[in-house]
Amino acid sequence: MNLRSIKEIKNIRGKRVLVRVDFNIPLEHGKLADDTRIKAAAPTIKWLVEKGAKVILMSHFGQPRKKGLRNKDKGLSMIVERLGKLLKRDVKLIEEWDFATIGKTVKKMKAGQVFMLPNLRLHPGEEKNNEAFAKELANLGQIYVNEAFSVCHREHASIVGVPKFLPRYAGVRLIEEVETLGRVLHEARLPLIVLIGGAKITDKIAMIKTMTDKASAILVGGALANHFFKAQGYQIGASVVDPKGVKIAKTLLKNKKIILPRDVVVGTKDGKVAKVAEVTNESKALCFKPYAILDIGPKTILRFSHFIKTAQTLVWNGPMGLYEVKRFSHGTVALGRLFAARSKGIAFGVAGGGETIDALKKTGMAQYVDFISTGGGAMLEYLGGEELPGIKELSY
Ligand code: 3PG
Repeated sequence: MNLRSIKEIKNIRGKRVLVRVDFNIPLEHGKLADDTRIKAAAPTIKWLVEKGAKVILMSHFGQPRKKGLRNKDKGLSMIVERLGKLLKRDVKLIEEWDFATIGKTVKKMKAGQVFMLPNLRLHPGEEKNNEAFAKELANLGQIYVNEAFSVCHREHASIVGVPKFLPRYAGVRLIEEVETLGRVLHEARLPLIVLIGGAKITDKIAMIKTMTDKASAILVGGALANHFFKAQGYQIGASVVDPKGVKIAKTLLKNKKIILPRDVVVGTKDGKVAKVAEVTNESKALCFKPYAILDIGPKTILRFSHFIKTAQTLVWNGPMGLYEVKRFSHGTVALGRLFAARSKGIAFGVAGGGETIDALKKTGMAQYVDFISTGGGAMLEYLGGEELPGIKELSY
């Protein structure tokens, strides 16, 4: 893979550089839960600023159109504030998708200034990879930089469209991600144990399929496990499931490398009710509405720990339950600790994804992990051996 680093850009002073970043960060009580992705992109932005570039940042934040938003949203204003503090300079947020005005604004930029375009996903062209939208974006800059490894698995306009029109470069963090994860992919010491939870099953399923070749075991928890229970005919009450995911889970049930929970914690999301339900063949009733599966149980933690203790390489993405609520955090916290204890030196431990990073930080374990990837879905697809569209578009 031949990626050109930003360090190779010549005559950068005064040039408008469009930088795709991923500042899609989970919120907690209306505040940014974690700033790992901002810190990860900061060295690239700083370097460009110091070289006198005019930096135009592009990011998405959540799924605003799904919430019915079509113009302004608050997410990125919190981001520019945090980024400004980190860079020790003002970062100006442009709030509306009006290319005529944006064009005039960016043409007046001074060397070293940093602007942020409106939330990319407010514009319908982004997720559709609309060529006209990509061209309009490209017209704003003279150079394109991708510093958003975590969204390189999406064929969106800012990821695969814009680099078709401009000289393209990779950010320093993106290169580090590709090199480190590439080593895990090609040189992983066995046993390779994968711990996977959270939701977004349709995204993660592709990775489970490809990883079953390489991995020694795939430990499944979180909302992801619900799909396997449903596929086996269990009653799962108000638990989160995506019908497409259940179909896919059915095709994977026979795979012996996929290890499912033996018991789960069921209850109400407010944490007022929480009790353990065994996963047995005798009764297919795990829970009924309004109860839902919200964590893995103690027997599962014990079973998963036996696998983790054998690992030479460990990969983790996705919490084991609704870890934000204390009563449902035990599975994620216990496995996070085991994962960190086995990492650095004994096994090579790689974790990634917004919620996983947040969970590791909450347990104070992040420092004991070998590599924390900014990517969740992107990390899994990459480790599953897929060529990420955004990385492909960057190569020469
Ligand atoms: C992520 O948080 O994994 C990336 O920002 C991609 O977000 P998406 O799953 O909404 O495309």
